Amino acid sequence: MTADRFPERSAFPPGFLFGAATSAYQIEGAVEQDGRGPSWWDRFAHTPGCIRDGSTGDQACEHYQRWREDLDLMHSLNLQAYRFSVAWPRVLPDGRGRLNPAGLDFYERLVDGLLERGIVPYATLYHWDLPLTLADAGGWQSRDTSSAFADYAVQVMRRLGDRVARWSRLNEPRCSAYVGHLEGRHAPGLRDLRATLSAAHHLLLGHGLAMQAMRAESPSAQLGIVLDVKPYTAADEGALHQQAAWRADGVFNRWFLDPLFRAEYPTDVLAAYAAHMPDVLATDLATIAQPLDHLGLNYYTRGHVLHDPSRPFPQAAEQRVNAAHHSTMEWEDWPEGLYRMLTRIHREYAPKALFVAENGAAEPDRVDADGRVRDPDRQRYLQGHLRACAKALEEGVPLDAYLVWSLMDNFEWGRGYTQRFGLVHVDYATQRRTPKESALAYAAFIRS
Ligand code: FCB
Repeated sequence: MTADRFPERSAFPPGFLFGAATSAYQIEGAVEQDGRGPSWWDRFAHTPGCIRDGSTGDQACEHYQRWREDLDLMHSLNLQAYRFSVAWPRVLPDGRGRLNPAGLDFYERLVDGLLERGIVPYATLYHWDLPLTLADAGGWQSRDTSSAFADYAVQVMRRLGDRVARWSRLNEPRCSAYVGHLEGRHAPGLRDLRATLSAAHHLLLGHGLAMQAMRAESPSAQLGIVLDVKPYTAADEGALHQQAAWRADGVFNRWFLDPLFRAEYPTDVLAAYAAHMPDVLATDLATIAQPLDHLGLNYYTRGHVLHDPSRPFPQAAEQRVNAAHHSTMEWEDWPEGLYRMLTRIHREYAPKALFVAENGAAEPDRVDADGRVRDPDRQRYLQGHLRACAKALEEGVPLDAYLVWSLMDNFEWGRGYTQRFGLVHVDYATQRRTPKESALAYAAFIRS
């Protein structure tokens, strides 16, 4: 797929939305303001050695104060949709029980501001900032967290459900489970397979319970979940490499897609995990697999897998494809993978509707002397991936929105502020925002 121009605007049906995404802890700052409680990310970021540049999200992009300016910026870039996350510890500082009305007030102002500017809100209820009280009571390893999540989801829905139609409960349960509990690179910083599988199951269960509760509260809302998906290609035709790629697909993709759409864990991976599984009650999978109104996909890159027996399951050994462009995350620019995942998920799981909830690239951006931020590699990345969307649409995939990660540079979790994913450059010392060249090109494409 050549990737040096935007697709035809007419390749996208009327009503298709183009926008951008962010998440609360990565942009808001104001971690102690207006009654917000602490989350496990506050603790993790403040633990020496956990974040590459020693930074935290305490201040981030000061979006909690600057939200109006940020909404104006979105409007000036012609964005039609904006995906944000609600910080659970702002709404329920202890995770459950006592409601903090000021927290909900903030999101209400934000949503009203979006609607005034004609921007469609997509709300995510959990983008990794678990209230510390729940973390200390077992976090996602505890079944109780799943029910606490459902209670929280309803509280948010009650306040915003008349204005927000599109909801995702979780962002990337795979990342929450594996990166937080097996790789130790995200909160809570564990390296334990049993904890990982327990967290993964309770995240999915929490999604299912919240789904039931929200459906009861607002039958017309569009409810879904956001999964990160990654195609795994094998380094060559050899059977062992092929098997390794399929296993990686099972661990990363099918472990979440199968329970959500088929009410079962994939048997090949389950066999390998059997000794480490948490208690799965008879009704759990039915709770998890309720019909979704839409499925959000986060797509960045592929895994090019090598068979390597020294690498302990479930980790896969990946090989760098040197000929391709790689972002500063060391992620390969491979739009073909987005096309493959969209068509495959449509074919094998048939969600009613799909949207790209995150897609983008971190590049070494800087503001030049003339005030411009030149980021041709990001522009090429976006063009290639939009073309992949157009191709999937042409083949009948019910795709209805494309959201760039991210609206602006922000706190990139364990990598701190070292990665710039934004359409808009942020100078953290002055909080000055500068739309990058790719943002201007994206804005022109949306308008065209
Ligand atoms: C995704 C996360 C998002 C951001 C991007 C780069 O996994 O959902 O918050 O960190 O990666």
